[in-house]
Amino acid sequence: MAGAGVALTQPQDRTASTAAATGATTEPFHGPRQAGVATPAQAHAVFLGLDLRAGVDRDGVTRLLRLLTDDARRLTQGRAALADTEPELAALPARLTVTFGFGPGLFQAAGLAAPPSVAPLPAFSIDKLQDRWSGGDLLVQICADDPLTVSHTLRMIVKDARAFATVRWTQRGFRRAAQTEEPGRTQRNLMGQLDGTVNPLPGTAEFDRAVWNSHGTTLVLRRIHTDLETWDAADPTAKEFTIGRRLSDGAPLTGSREHDEPDFQRLTPAGFPVISEYAHIRRARVEDPASRILRRPYNYDDGLTADGVPDTGLLFASYQADIARQFVPMQQRLAEADLLNEWTTPIGSAVFLIPPGCGPDGWIGETILT
Ligand code: HEM
Repeated sequence: MAGAGVALTQPQDRTASTAAATGATTEPFHGPRQAGVATPAQAHAVFLGLDLRAGVDRDGVTRLLRLLTDDARRLTQGRAALADTEPELAALPARLTVTFGFGPGLFQAAGLAAPPSVAPLPAFSIDKLQDRWSGGDLLVQICADDPLTVSHTLRMIVKDARAFATVRWTQRGFRRAAQTEEPGRTQRNLMGQLDGTVNPLPGTAEFDRAVWNSHGTTLVLRRIHTDLETWDAADPTAKEFTIGRRLSDGAPLTGSREHDEPDFQRLTPAGFPVISEYAHIRRARVEDPASRILRRPYNYDDGLTADGVPDTGLLFASYQADIARQFVPMQQRLAEADLLNEWTTPIGSAVFLIPPGCGPDGWIGETILT
């Protein structure tokens, strides 16, 4: 664990710790898994969706990934990218991770079959998807505890990708600023809820089964608009009934502490379930831990629209071993009935394979493209 008060001049000597993380703290880049999934969520993120230019084939994709891997390898360790236009900005990585994801179009361009579940999702009744937030051949997920680091990294990646790909979308998100809260605490989203209570825990067998597969993992990125004005009009009891948990401490309505097991059988004196049949946590629940998803969401707040309405919501990032087995049935149940649907609308959707990590001489995607 990196201690407070240690000289900050050698970022490569400092290992990651949310407890005493500083601007110089690094997350490892090399390893069998890409960072940015099991990594404790950093405060800031940008998700970049790229489309490959016409004619970029397997050879082109390989050159692009070699280049971007090199950028990520350097920048995450506090070193400037090759031909970095602002090398000073690389000096404070602030737990930077750069994670790559392959959409169905990348496999197509490379003349390869995508894993079966890395395909556009079925249409859900609640969807109001917009093209400008959906799809994409290559994802670059950039997360750090400092927004300047995120912006600089994004700029370097886009600069190097330009000859091979065009930007389809960028989606920026945030959580609590680093050190605002003790590490390990569940974050609150813009609706005021503790969001992330029931989640696989990195380092456990459950996490490994739920999240990793032989190719790495998969990401479903949903941009979900939340209607904060009508949410503000709901009273606290209705808000808690919607989720099935208390706003104050995240405890289930049948319990007293955040991590108490919800009692879905308990009835009110009048004979109704304490946790509604349509409460979000009841509809989203899966009994088999291997079927859980890893939620690593970021809030977004793009200000007010021209008519004064908050443009806010969640960048709902869900990682799972298998999208078809884990994410789709869950999203289907929520689309069919979930009290939360009154305030939330999916407006963007994209799926990616997150390939394995790589060693010091390798590049991300090597095992898949060669
Ligand atoms: C804006 C949209 C959403 C909001 C604000 C939201 C909020 C919440 C909150 C407050 C909880 C309870 C605390 C926790 O365990 O984290 C929760 C639980 C959960 N949510 Fe969501 N959620 C959203 C969308 C989704 C979607 C799209 C899915 C999956 C397709 C999902 C899956 C889950 C799961 C699996 C749980 C844990 C259920 C359990 O207790 O077993 N959520 N969510």
